[in-house]
Amino acid sequence: MATPLILDCDPGHDDALAILLAVADPAVDLLAVTTVAGNQTVDKCTLNARRVLSLAGVTSVPVARGADRPLARELRIADDVHGGTGLDGPTFTGTPAVPESELSAHDLLVDILSRTPATIVATGALTNIAQLLMESPEAAANITEIVWMGGSTGRGNIAPLAEANAYVDPEAAEVVVDSGIPFTMCGLNVTHQALVTDDVLARLERIGTPLARVCGEWMTYFASTYRKVFGFESPPLHDPVAVARVIDPAIVHCVEANLIIETAGDWTAGATVVDLDGYTGRRPNARIAVELDREAFWDKIIGAVAALG
Ligand code: BDR
Ligand code: CA
Repeated sequence: MATPLILDCDPGHDDALAILLAVADPAVDLLAVTTVAGNQTVDKCTLNARRVLSLAGVTSVPVARGADRPLARELRIADDVHGGTGLDGPTFTGTPAVPESELSAHDLLVDILSRTPATIVATGALTNIAQLLMESPEAAANITEIVWMGGSTGRGNIAPLAEANAYVDPEAAEVVVDSGIPFTMCGLNVTHQALVTDDVLARLERIGTPLARVCGEWMTYFASTYRKVFGFESPPLHDPVAVARVIDPAIVHCVEANLIIETAGDWTAGATVVDLDGYTGRRPNARIAVELDREAFWDKIIGAVAALG
C-alpha cells in the first residue's frame, strides 16, 4: 500500500523536484502540500507550489499556506540561491490552475491527521510542524514519522556549522526533534551526494516533454547560483532525498544517533549536533542519513518527471 504523505516545503528549486517525485511515485500517496517561509516569503513559496503542481497537471492535491516567519527569529530568505521569485529560471505568467486551499497549513494538517495517520516530509524550516505539535498535539500524535531535509553531520551552508533549514528556525527544529515522534534527518552530508551532473541534465533533456524542459531550466539556474555562491561544479538536489527515503528506505541509508539542535550558541545557532560516536552517552533519538544510492535515486527522479508527461 502507498504511504500516505504530506509534503511541507518552501519551493525552491529542489523543493519543486521533491513535489514532482512525491506526486509521481506510486510508493507514496501525496495528500497535501503545505508551505512555509524559507527560501522566499511564504507568499512566493505558496505560489510556486501551486505552479509546480499545475505544470505537472495535478489538481487533486491541496496546497495550503503555512507560517510566514520562524517561531522566534527574523526570516532569512535564500534569494542568492533561488532568486527573486524563489523559483527563478523559466518565466511564467498567469495564475496557476491549482488554487490555494481555503484552509491554513495548520488547519489542513489537523483535518488530514484527524482522519488518517501520515508521514510528513519537511523540506524547509520546521515552523509549521512545531506549531502543529504545540497547538494540536492530538492531531500530531497521528504523524507516523517526520523525514526532514535539513541539518548536517558536519559543516553548514549558511553559517559555518548550520544548514539553511535548521538555521532559519532552530527553535522549531528543537521542538520537533524533542517531540519523540520518529525523526529522520537527511542533511547536507547525504544530499551533497545527489549532484545534478551534466549526465543528469542530459537524461532530463532526453525525456523531451515540456515539464522536463522546465525542470532542466530550473536545474540550470540552480547550477548557476550554486557555482557562484558555493563554487560547486554541479548543484546538490537536496530535498528529493527526503522523499526518496520514504519511497524506498534502501535508497538512503541511515544510522541511529543522538541529535541535538543548537539554539543558544553565540556562533552556532542552527547547528545539528549529531553524536555519531556516542561521546555524549545520550541515547539515539533520530535516524541520520549517511549514504545515498545515487543510481537508484536518479532513476526515481528521471522516472517521476517522465511519468508526469
Ligand atoms: C535546503 O535549503 C534550501 O535552500 C533548499 O531548498 C533545501 O531545502 C538546503 O540547505
Ligand atoms: Ca527546501
